[in-house]
Amino acid sequence: MRISADRRCRSDQSPLLDRRGGPKGRGGCSIEFLNNHPGCGCAAAAPPVQEGRSFGFAVALAIALMSLTACRQKMADQPAYRPLQPSASFSDGTSARLFPAGTIARGSIPVAKDIGEEATLPYALTREVLERGKNRFNIFCSPCHGEAGDAQGIIVLRGLRHGPPSFHIDRLRQAPLGHFVDVISNGFGGMADYSVQISYRDRWAVAAYIRVLQYSQYSPIGNLPAAERQRLEAEP
Ligand code: HEC
Repeated sequence: MRISADRRCRSDQSPLLDRRGGPKGRGGCSIEFLNNHPGCGCAAAAPPVQEGRSFGFAVALAIALMSLTACRQKMADQPAYRPLQPSASFSDGTSARLFPAGTIARGSIPVAKDIGEEATLPYALTREVLERGKNRFNIFCSPCHGEAGDAQGIIVLRGLRHGPPSFHIDRLRQAPLGHFVDVISNGFGGMADYSVQISYRDRWAVAAYIRVLQYSQYSPIGNLPAAERQRLEAEP
């Protein structure tokens, strides 16, 4: 009872603070307040003590809140910019930097997935291109396909089951260059793709070199220089 009366005193209107400047009664209560709350113990309940208590409580609360605020600062207010947040660090006033010209998003090169089988070498064929293709082929392909493309690579010789086909079969002899680039880009059946290891440009060089390997074993006679052809034709 007593407590609730005290509470009511405090919440109704602090008897200590007669802000309207009315005459004060017992313990600082306004006369009007005491008249309206005859049984109220607010004045007797020593307002100064109450004041001290609430002051102590307020200090404790403030300290608790301050420590909470400190935690929040560490966790939430990290010294990092959000996208498009202004910044004085750069002359254009933004914190987000622009991508350098020519930036390509990973996985966004369409040709890697959709290479047309009929596509042909997208740049001029030179000896350097073939040397490059040979270099990449011997590193990445020959362990299975063999340096001659005859499917006798070291992995096959050591017992790879379901090994690759030879490049010297009719179907692959007739396959367009784009087919080899497609196989390197996307894999083929049990063969993984080599799109990470071999750049798009180099895939064409490898494909061109595979054609060289195929010609090394089987070439239409019309491909030979005239002198070479005559020499062969003169053979018994
Ligand atoms: C680890 C062994 C291995 C390596 C390395 C490898 N291949 Fe293969 N390759 C295979 C196998 C196995 C197959 C047969 C896959 C199938 O038919 O399921 C195959 C098939 C192929 C085919 C035939 C596709 C067809 O139409 O039948 C081509 C072309 C080919 N690989 C090109 C390459 C090239 C180019 C490289 C190097 C960039 C390479 N492979 C590296 C194992 C390999």
